[in-house]
This record gives sequence, C-alpha cells and structure tokens, in this order.
Amino acid sequence: MSKKIFSGVQPTGNLHLGNYLGAIKNFVKLSNDNTNDCIFCVVDLHAITAKQNPKELKDNILETIATFVASGIDPKKSIIFNQSRVPAHSEAAWILSCIARMGWLNRMTQFKEKAGKDKEKASIGLFSYPVLMAADILLYDATHVPVGDDQKQHLELCRDIAQKFNNEFEVEDFLKIPEPLIQKEFSRIMSLKDGSKKMSKSELSDLSRINLTDTKDQIINKIKKAKTDTLPMPSTIEELKERHEVKNLIGIYSNLIETSLEKTIVSFSGKNFSDFKDKLSQVLVEKIEPISNEIKKLKRDKEYLSQILVEGSQKANEIASKKIKKIHEIVGF
Ligand code: TYM
Repeated sequence: MSKKIFSGVQPTGNLHLGNYLGAIKNFVKLSNDNTNDCIFCVVDLHAITAKQNPKELKDNILETIATFVASGIDPKKSIIFNQSRVPAHSEAAWILSCIARMGWLNRMTQFKEKAGKDKEKASIGLFSYPVLMAADILLYDATHVPVGDDQKQHLELCRDIAQKFNNEFEVEDFLKIPEPLIQKEFSRIMSLKDGSKKMSKSELSDLSRINLTDTKDQIINKIKKAKTDTLPMPSTIEELKERHEVKNLIGIYSNLIETSLEKTIVSFSGKNFSDFKDKLSQVLVEKIEPISNEIKKLKRDKEYLSQILVEGSQKANEIASKKIKKIHEIVGF
C-alpha cells in the first residue's frame, strides 16, 4: 500500500543539523520512493506563535523551500507549499480546537519548555500549536509523519484528536490515524555545547549547532570547539551513559555514515579524540557543504522558489479544500 507522507518545518531561520538528521534526511528518502505520495509544508502559521520580523519571515520561507530542494526533495514529485496559502489549515485548526481538551494540551512538554516560567504571557497560539499541527496532518489523510523525537507527543495528541472527532460525530475512519516515523537511533541531535539540550535554532550561541548554510571552515571550527571531556574515546556503549556530549558526536557521525553506535565505537576505540573529530568534520563537510552551496545558489533565484510555492499550494489546496468541505458537512455547517 502506498504511504501518504506529510511533514512540516518552521521557517524560523537557521535550519540545522538536527532538522536535517532528525527529519529532512528522512523526507528525502521517503520522497525518492515512487510508491509514496509526499507533502512537505513550510509551517509559517506555526512560526508566528513566536514574534517574527515580517521581512525576515518572508526570506525564511524561501530559505526553507531552498533547503528542501537543496537536500534532494524534487518539487516535481512531492508537493512543497507554505501553510498560510491554504486556508483550510486555519479553519480545521479551529474546529479541532473544539474537540481537543485543555487537559490534553496542558500535558505538552514543548509548550512548558517554550513558555518558560511565565506561562501567563505565552500566546494562545503557542498553547494551541499542536492542534494546528493535527489539522495539517489530518487534512491530507496522512498515513505516516516523519519527525524528530521532540514531536512524538504532538503526534500522539493528533491521534487522540482524530479518534475523538470520529467517535463524537460517529464517522468511523473519517480522520485517518497517522503513524509517526521516528528514527530508532539518534532521533534527537543535541547541542554541541551542552549534551543535555537539544540542538535548536533558538539557542543563542551559533557554536551550539551546525547550520545547513555553514561553510566548510565554519563546520570544522564548530567541531573543533564542540564540548567533549577529558576521558579517552570509549570502547563500549556503556561508557557513554554519563558522557552526553561524546555520545552526541558519536551519534552524529554514525547517523551521517548510516552505521550503528557500536560499530563507530569499535572503529575509534583506543584512538585520539582529535582523530575522531577530524573524521567527523570530514564526513560533515562532505554531506553539508554541497547542501549549503546549493541553498545559497537557489536563494538567488527567488522567482523559482516562489513558483514552487504557488504550484505546491494549488495542489495542496485541491486536497485540503475537499476535506474541509466534508468536515463542514459532518459538523453541521
Ligand atoms: P521544527 O520546525 O521545530 O523542526 C522540524 C523538524 O526537525 C526536527 N528536529 C530535530 N530532530 C532531531 N534533533 C533535533 N535537535 C531537532 N530539532 C528539530 C523536528 O522533530 C521536526 O521533525 N511542530 C513541528 C512542525 C510541524 C509539523 C506539522 C511536523 C507543523 N505541522 C505536521 C509534522 C507534521 C516543528 O515545530 O518542527
């Protein structure tokens, strides 16, 4: 059976290695399988849950499209579009917010992290963010949603919302219950400066992440400065338990060359840390530099990028408007 793939990325600038290894790399693989129908969305409505500079947001939407294409997603084969051009997303989000329960949303750890200590000052959009995400997925009858590990809880909420909608309106199987596609190993890439924090675009220090637009020299410098510890390279996986930064670097390396942690540990056991870092820089440069160069090239062709959005949004609109029409009928509008 062909899979219907849907996923989204926020256009908030600084797309990084975590986005790539946790999500985009998987998008490319899935989209290269001709039996899958793939839809990749630049979630600009989600982006404004935090304050954005309008001019920068416009540029970041195009940069996110450029990143998809530079990474290997073919806009002729997959639908690539931005959320705000398809009104059904906002409409469905409202209807589903009347299905989702406060208690469910109150459990979302990402809201707690992002809202920080002063929850009262967080926007309502930030709180209801996972409902909009559910709308994104359910409008397209997605069967599979490739994401990084940090989105797992949101996917579970999406499934609960779909189930409750179907039960409440007695429309069995109308909203399809999606499966998350999360990599088993290394689905969460951590900061290069603090192995207990996830690699993130909002982290102040640029040295904490490898951006997908970094140059060769920037990548080498960041890996040189990446935090490690004073112990030698590990020879067993157990030794990594308390060594978060080292585990992260070994995980990044293993993910890039598509091998297991165990095999990487065996091949570097007894070697100097600097040897490992040199090798890690080398594979990172091999993978990221061509993407970075291609993003920069594509960004100069704004017309091409805008055209991808126009065409993608038309196709997305065709699918989503049919589903929202049925939702209206079911609800009684
Ligand atoms: P966003 O924009 O924060 O991240 C995009 C994708 O990158 C993954 N990711 C990571 N994976 C591993 N390690 C990391 N350090 C790391 N940081 C980010 C995320 O898990 C994600 O897959 N809510 C979503 C966007 C969204 C969406 C959707 C996703 C909106 N609607 C519908 C799927 C389906 C988000 O904010 O992702």
